[in-house]
Amino acid sequence: MNDLKIEENISLDAYNTFGIAARARHLLRVQHGDQLTALADPAAQPLLAHGFLVLGGGSNIILTGDARALVLKMENRGMALVDEDAKHWIVQAAAGETWHDLVAWSLQQGYAGLENLALIPGSVGAAPVQNIGAYGLELQDRFHSLDAVEIATGRTFSLDAAQCGFGYRDSVFKHTPARAGDYGLAGQAVITQVRLALPKVWKPELGYLDIQRKMQELGITQPTPQQVFNMVVAIRRAKLPDPAVVGNAGSFFKNPVVSPEQCADIIAREPNIVHYPLPDGTIKLAAGWLIDACGWRGKSMGNAGVYPKQALVLVNRHAETGVRATGGEVMTLARAIQTSVYERFGIRLEMEPVVV
Ligand code: EPU
Repeated sequence: MNDLKIEENISLDAYNTFGIAARARHLLRVQHGDQLTALADPAAQPLLAHGFLVLGGGSNIILTGDARALVLKMENRGMALVDEDAKHWIVQAAAGETWHDLVAWSLQQGYAGLENLALIPGSVGAAPVQNIGAYGLELQDRFHSLDAVEIATGRTFSLDAAQCGFGYRDSVFKHTPARAGDYGLAGQAVITQVRLALPKVWKPELGYLDIQRKMQELGITQPTPQQVFNMVVAIRRAKLPDPAVVGNAGSFFKNPVVSPEQCADIIAREPNIVHYPLPDGTIKLAAGWLIDACGWRGKSMGNAGVYPKQALVLVNRHAETGVRATGGEVMTLARAIQTSVYERFGIRLEMEPVVV
């Protein structure tokens, strides 16, 4: 317990990319996994009376009030090549590293494979939680394994990809065990290290329309990893707000997946709807398009708004109004959008960030 330096009444304004004003009653800066192990000590239990809240980059969280739970601010560092097999370099990064720094570093070291995921805000430890993805690649495509600490017992364990239960913006770390025997690790375990398997023989992932367009624009046909990285950075900068300037949490809703029958029905009414058939026969609809079609792009409610260049991104209008949006304002806007989309399309949009 002696080595646990708990800070009290700490502002979280700078620790969540949406820039919502909130405070933590108790905050622990985690620089080493041993500090998490120490939380299993009986003397630490009062600190955990309201559970714990892991903050990585704070890029996928909406704070609706002060945090009563113990805030674990992940600040452990380190990136290294730790292993290899016939086909892969195994690169390990600490949960507290910034995701984009890992993408850039691995590329510099000559281990390509993460470039499509450049500039995704957040930390390395948060990446598996929601199986981050962009431009035709998801974390699970490059994932090897991770280490985590079970807070109740202090036990360190490792999980491979199958054990992480990855889905579209989903993993076991987003689920709480509803019944005994269910496998959910939300509120139970904290990720400390992540290992990625990066291909020794690199093949670019260029299927995404935005990348195709960019290649045409630049006259590139066979891009290098660095060129893919540069294109992704340019595409994201052009249509997504920089959280350092305009507070946001990336895509605010998941792209809904519907049955072919449901989709046919919607297309009959809305022929222009943007949709992508998935390998299992279901169809993913572009939530940004649905929200845009309901007229929300560029609209606002109080200090929360819809980003004018991408309707799937909600923003803090703080830079414009001088007043930070509260979590309540953001949720009011989110619910109004959900209602509009439901009334017009009969589709319930599911939020992507975690609400606390
Ligand atoms: N669209 C509109 N109006 C809008 C926004 C989008 O008509 O206001 C249309 C676009 O024209 C496009 C389609 O909707 O045809 C899809 O938009 P986009 O290509 O921007 O991608 P997205 O589906 O909105 C997803 C991910 C992003 C990821 C991009 C690129 C989700 C929830 N979001 O967005 O991930 O960067 O694809 O791969 O899956 C994130 O998860 O935080 C995130 C930013």
